[in-house]
Amino acid sequence: MEITNAEFVISNTDVKKCPAGIFPEYAFIGRSNVGKSSLINMLTGRKGLAMTSATPGKTMLINHFLINHSWYIVDLPGYGYARRGQKGKTQIQRIIEDYILEREQMTNLFLLIDSRLDPQTIDLEFMEWLGEHGVPFSIVFTKGDKLKGGRLNTNIQQYLKKLKEQWEELPPYFVTSSENRMGRKELLDYIESINKE
Ligand code: GTP
Ligand code: MG
Repeated sequence: MEITNAEFVISNTDVKKCPAGIFPEYAFIGRSNVGKSSLINMLTGRKGLAMTSATPGKTMLINHFLINHSWYIVDLPGYGYARRGQKGKTQIQRIIEDYILEREQMTNLFLLIDSRLDPQTIDLEFMEWLGEHGVPFSIVFTKGDKLKGGRLNTNIQQYLKKLKEQWEELPPYFVTSSENRMGRKELLDYIESINKE
């Protein structure tokens, strides 16, 4: 699938104020700074569409982008950013949880994981929580350009091995880079295949 049109629609803190209608939507979630907004820009081919920053905690709202006039990409705030303080963290967590549990149009959640890191407790616990609530999700490994040679593949295989201890069946996964567009076609084709169901 190719994205021929991408436009920002609205930012919200309240899931009830998200766009009405029945268009399917795909949301991107993960730790602060993992590369959610950059990935959205890479997928849509629009550099400044979602706001990115080297400083964690950039995205604070639920952001809807209308794609090809027929489905949405949703950029969510990152979780686990310590410097927000407890009050800020709780607030962001509430926004994320309400969105995931209440938004019926949300067709698949893409959980972003930094491909350089070992499995982090916060991400594993988040996956547990998704499993408990029956939320359909896939894993997107990010920043694949930062690991050279076979290290990218080795790291991902190790990650999956760890996941197999927790899960009977692995979710679909993708390896991406917003720098060199790795994984772009695979992700868009996957979204297209779900859109057709
Ligand atoms: P929050 O909104 O703060 O939760 O962060 P985010 O997950 O949206 O991350 P964002 O896209 O803003 O990117 C964070 C930083 O990582 C920025 O400095 C990006 O340039 C960098 N970055 C994101 N993706 C990649 C990638 O694939 N490769 C490289 N080399 N850098 C990346
Ligand atoms: Mg962001």
